[in-house]
Amino acid sequence: MKSQLGPLPARVTICEVGPRDGLQNESQLVSADDKVHYIDLLSESGLSLIETTSFVSPKAVPQIGDAAEVMARIRRRPGVRYLVLVPNVRGLERAQQAGADAVAVFTAATESFAKRNINMTIAQSLETFGEVVASAKRAGMWVRGYISTAFGCPYEGTTPVASVIRVARALVAMGCDEISVGDTIGVATPLQVADVVARLRDEVPLERLALHLHDTRGTALANIVAGLQQGVAIFDSSSGGLGGCPFAPGATGNVATEDVLYLLDGMGIETRVDLAKVRAASRFIAGVLRRDQLPSRAFNALEAAAAR
Ligand code: COA
Ligand code: ZN
Repeated sequence: MKSQLGPLPARVTICEVGPRDGLQNESQLVSADDKVHYIDLLSESGLSLIETTSFVSPKAVPQIGDAAEVMARIRRRPGVRYLVLVPNVRGLERAQQAGADAVAVFTAATESFAKRNINMTIAQSLETFGEVVASAKRAGMWVRGYISTAFGCPYEGTTPVASVIRVARALVAMGCDEISVGDTIGVATPLQVADVVARLRDEVPLERLALHLHDTRGTALANIVAGLQQGVAIFDSSSGGLGGCPFAPGATGNVATEDVLYLLDGMGIETRVDLAKVRAASRFIAGVLRRDQLPSRAFNALEAAAAR
């Protein structure tokens, strides 16, 4: 698409991560019933990729002990991919038993974060995921690979681009269909995003490269524009801006789906996602969490306008 900002993708895919990345970081436990209803509402909005839950150790993430129940009870809408996180072969087996057909493996670009999040070195994680991805591909599953702390790490500071490239190359080589590069603690700024993407494009075809941005310091939307200018057309976001990461102190939510949709709609970039329906899902989960407001600026503005 031609624009004053240079060529931009005509169409963008949103990966909605609220039910997993979002709810996992809420101190309040949400019932399986409410999670299922939330996911069903999101499914109605036109989203094609929803990160639904994770089959990790319930000792590591207690909020997610009901993963199998949630997967069994959601209304699966044709055309929607329900993605689940798996940290190891055991998680893959649990995901398969629960009927998942899309899984995500997740490692990091920095050693300290990998250790704290999955208790593995990066090399160990790549070995584990090599096995997980091979087995998932044999079973005909779609696989996403996450690289956390790709821009900065709470323990190691700014992440060298070479570390991101190394991990991305390994994930592509093992057969991941899509690579999502994460600003886990929301420290990135636009030139850094442009730089990392420009260098990653040689490793990961653009149509398989996603950006996963947190808005901890308010730079996420600016970073999305920088990503768009580099040709990125897949962005992760959470409805209402829920989220964070229990292993990243101070990290706030993912960039909000409503904010991303408002931005993209305004720029004439197609998403096929209905903002009003995402807002309805956010309103439901805000009620469950007993919150009047959510981190999403667009959500709050639209709710306030509707209440006038
Ligand atoms: N599902 C359920 N239980 C699992 C599991 C899985 N996929 N993998 C391991 N476990 C259980 C083990 O059986 C063991 O239980 P036990 O103590 O009752 O025997 C316990 O979890 C620890 O397993 P172990 O193999 O020793 O792993 P670990 O303690 O080194 O933890 C991970 C490694 C990867 C399993 C764990 O760190 C994890 O699940 N991390 C995920 C964190 C996350 O979801 N982060 C969100 C992304 S930001
Ligand atoms: Zn995240």
